[in-house]
Amino acid sequence: MTGNEMKIRVENVYKVFGDNPASVMDTVRAGASKSEILEKTSHVVGIRDVSLDIRAGETFVIMGLSGSGKSTLIRHFNRLIEPTAGRILVDGVDVLKMSEVELRDFRRNKISMVFQRFALLPHKTVLDNVICGLTIAGMSRSEAREQGMRQIELVGLDGFEHRYPKQLSGGMQQRVGLARALATDAEILLMDEAFSALDPLIRNDMQAQLKELQARLHKTIVFITHDLDEALRLGDHIAILKDGELRQAGTGPDILINPADEYVARFVNDVNRARVVTVGSLAEKAGLMPLSDANAANCDALLDDNEAIILTDDGKPCHVVGRGDRHKLDDLFRDKTVMPAAVCIDRGMVLEDGFSLLAGTQNPLVITNGSDVPLGVVTRQRVLHALARDAVR
Ligand SMILES: Nc1ncnc2c1ncn2[C@@H]1O[C@H](COP(=O)(O)OP(=O)(O)OP(=O)(O)O)[C@@H](O)[C@H]1O
Ligand SMILES: [Mg+2]
Repeated sequence: MTGNEMKIRVENVYKVFGDNPASVMDTVRAGASKSEILEKTSHVVGIRDVSLDIRAGETFVIMGLSGSGKSTLIRHFNRLIEPTAGRILVDGVDVLKMSEVELRDFRRNKISMVFQRFALLPHKTVLDNVICGLTIAGMSRSEAREQGMRQIELVGLDGFEHRYPKQLSGGMQQRVGLARALATDAEILLMDEAFSALDPLIRNDMQAQLKELQARLHKTIVFITHDLDEALRLGDHIAILKDGELRQAGTGPDILINPADEYVARFVNDVNRARVVTVGSLAEKAGLMPLSDANAANCDALLDDNEAIILTDDGKPCHVVGRGDRHKLDDLFRDKTVMPAAVCIDRGMVLEDGFSLLAGTQNPLVITNGSDVPLGVVTRQRVLHALARDAVR
């Protein structure tokens, strides 16, 4: 369940690395480029004026090429890095204002991190690796074991709890890392390239497993990757960084359909939009009219602004009249049995799933919410427009 409540708020964060970051902030703020600043001042701009909102319960993906600032940004969230300027609020609390004790408690209970290279202790068993944080935090061993076993089952490793890391495959080791992060019951998981070291098949399984876990657990997950397919598969929202700057944040389909600039457009150019963009994201408003009231004149009035959907008495779409049919409304309404039937499609379907339906009708498809409630229509033209690469300029 993706709530609207903000979990992490990043406000105008800058991070400059070097001997005296404060001294170069004026130059950074004035807009000098990263390479210019490096050349003139020997300081590296890690993050430049990034603001973001991450909602509770969502998976938020941070993307960008190597060196774009992904790790730098995510490490601000648990204050492994402090910003040169700006604020980070987690649940409304400024992480920079936390005392040492508060920070320790925050890292232990609220936010946990899964690393790219699992960082498992080789001489400890799977179970001991999963519960080490809990016992260090003072939980009794029996309670920790119970909680640890629940997480081990969750990631599908029951039966392996007494094995050692080196006896497991890379994918299994990564699942131990995930179980360890989940064991603290933290509300926020930070995953920095957590799947990047895995081979493609195992990576695919891990993505599926993370999605399934997330559907049950509703954690707030911040996930870094430089793989666009992974980002689109996992992310409710995606942020794209370049040279430490946020170029765009939005849903996958938003970014594909309306890239904010040339860089983002090029970045997403090779994605198969038909597999990512949902019909719901292309919905156009439609006029609604109950069958009992429907006549040529009413319908004509609706078609001024929209396509028209005609509903049965219990509110289900039964016919659809496109603007292209406007010249023959009298004919259509003379004999409603020849009126084109509404072809419905669930809003969550991707465009590819709608191709054969669109090919089979002259009319727009009616988009529904999965229980026959009409939400709008999608036309062939709109679908083609969304698929066209040159439309993203
Ligand atoms: N401790 C540091 N000292 C100096 N420069 C740093 C430091 N950490 C990061 N940087 C610089 O900040 C920029 C962003 O680095 P960061 O590690 O955040 O990139 P990234 O997007 O995570 O890259 P990758 O995909 O390779 O992990 C880079 O130019 C990097 O050289
Ligand atoms: Mg990194």
